[in-house]
Amino acid sequence: MKIITIILSVFLSGVAFAQQPISIIPRPAEMRVGTGKFIVSPNTALVPLGNDPEVRRIAGLLNEKLKIAAGFTLKTEQTQRKDAIHFKLINEPALGNEGYRLHVTGEDVTIAANKSGGLFYGLQSLFQLLPYQIEGKSLITNFQWSIPVVEIRDVPRFGWRGQMLDVSRHFFTKDEVKSFIDDMAQYKYNLLHFHLTDDQGWRIEIKQYPKLTSVGAWNVKKEGRFGAFSPPAVNEPRDYGGFYTQDDIRELIRYAKDRYVEILPEIESPGHSLAAIASYPELSYTPGTYVVNSGETFMDWFGGGKFAARVDNTLCPANDKVYEFLDKVLGEVAQLFPFPYIHMGGDECAKNFWEKNPQIKSLMAREKLGDMDAVQSYFVGRVSSIITSKGKKMIGWDEILEGGLVKSAAVMSWRGMKGGIEAAKKGHEVVMTPSDFVYVDYMQGDAALEPPVYATLRLKKTYQFEPVPEGVNANLIKGGQANLWTEQIYNMRHLRYMLWPRGFAIAEALWSPKSARDWKGFVPRVEEHFKRFEVSDRKYAPSMYEPVVNVKRSATGGFALDFDVEVPGVTVHYSFDHSFPDNFYPAYSGKSIVVPVDATVLRVVSYTSGRLVGRTMTISIADLKKRVK
Ligand code: ACM
Repeated sequence: MKIITIILSVFLSGVAFAQQPISIIPRPAEMRVGTGKFIVSPNTALVPLGNDPEVRRIAGLLNEKLKIAAGFTLKTEQTQRKDAIHFKLINEPALGNEGYRLHVTGEDVTIAANKSGGLFYGLQSLFQLLPYQIEGKSLITNFQWSIPVVEIRDVPRFGWRGQMLDVSRHFFTKDEVKSFIDDMAQYKYNLLHFHLTDDQGWRIEIKQYPKLTSVGAWNVKKEGRFGAFSPPAVNEPRDYGGFYTQDDIRELIRYAKDRYVEILPEIESPGHSLAAIASYPELSYTPGTYVVNSGETFMDWFGGGKFAARVDNTLCPANDKVYEFLDKVLGEVAQLFPFPYIHMGGDECAKNFWEKNPQIKSLMAREKLGDMDAVQSYFVGRVSSIITSKGKKMIGWDEILEGGLVKSAAVMSWRGMKGGIEAAKKGHEVVMTPSDFVYVDYMQGDAALEPPVYATLRLKKTYQFEPVPEGVNANLIKGGQANLWTEQIYNMRHLRYMLWPRGFAIAEALWSPKSARDWKGFVPRVEEHFKRFEVSDRKYAPSMYEPVVNVKRSATGGFALDFDVEVPGVTVHYSFDHSFPDNFYPAYSGKSIVVPVDATVLRVVSYTSGRLVGRTMTISIADLKKRVK
């Protein structure tokens, strides 16, 4: 009995104290791993050197973290010593505003940076060197908080490392946005692109237009599939939604700033403006009774980039009241947000109502505008002048290039990279957000498992995101973003599911050197971060473990399947007999599997090293047959 206890305790302590692999995301630019470790104990000192209050505040964030899972904090001291974690500003201009050095020896730890932002990022790396349990929400006793001996010198590749959050389609509260910002900062993102207005809600208080939030922020709660909801009845309560007061916005900006995140506001125009029009119908040319969209169909998408609106959701480009409106709105926005850019939207503006609008016809004659692209370009030009008059720079979606664009405007390339390439060739600054690499609202695995969205973007493809295309001036590519549209995202749990782990991949594309990209090495690091998410009650998607099922006609006239597995080392097991497969069931070997003629259902599971990973997929054979082109 005693022997068993000893063996067991040695085994258990071996587990508890095992050095975890170094799994920093995004991967540091340079890292040398040594042997040994530094142990953080209640005797360790916290030493912010110098008198900079921001250095002291950042050092204090380590105590904030330690006190929860480790249950102790470190005493702050003023001078360098052994058994200490030092924070110091150094004069090393090559580290820029965000780079840092992190040196861990058996005796002490030093985070050094040229600017406080670098210290903040060095601290994020230090957190990731601590055991994953540090992210836990409750006290862990009898645990060794060790940091592996390592030397890191790290500088980001891009200065614009964004995540776009759409708070219009579904509203997220101020506290939810703060927790979104917390996640961003952990992975060294520095820009929140706040999509504040759209057809489904206007989310920012504008003092001169109170109806934008008393009317425009509210619609009818529906459950099911957004975009195909039943139209609300006239008397249904419009009590679903919300908005941020200007005080809320100031609070969020401060909160983000403390985490080295800036906020880019987007005020959409001329399309996607139904919430504004429902509040002030005179902004539209087309007379009518307008309501904020609740997810009922009101646009027709014909494919190939062609679409039309059933309800006129555009600001009229021939109406001076519209420019007066934008001048006042953007004036308040410019006052609130310190970020140098304002995003004017500009995407997906349906022109079918414009084509019937006699005011636009006279505008075209007066301004010598040849077509609807030229009309939109005229509109964008006027908005650009308004934004410039407020002391800000304009950025917009890549449609703003159509019909010509003032040189000073920056372009956010979302319809692939081509808009960004064209813009850079014309000398515009560019932020790369190509839908085929960074649209984290898309499904991330097989449609049989994922909540339905019209397109798929898997983790492996996301990881291939390369913001700088061949043949353009790389200096004009400011960086990129993960774009999180929220039509199909109803709550924070699902929001995180959609964003992570793809957010890890994009963080790495934007921070780490291009040469550091390594899919095989990335996957085990992702798995370490899954543990961090689990202990901190944050959801993530397990989709990377699950295959996408491809179906084709078999040589004998039936159907055959292939499983597209993206993670190395995962084996896929399946059944056609309705029973639940496990790792003793047939495994997919890479050779197409013929579907038995009488089969009605396929079930699939994934294993790695004998461990079940991901979810069980169940697909009817009838549905599979529909996948054959
Ligand atoms: C966009 O996704 N319509 C910018």
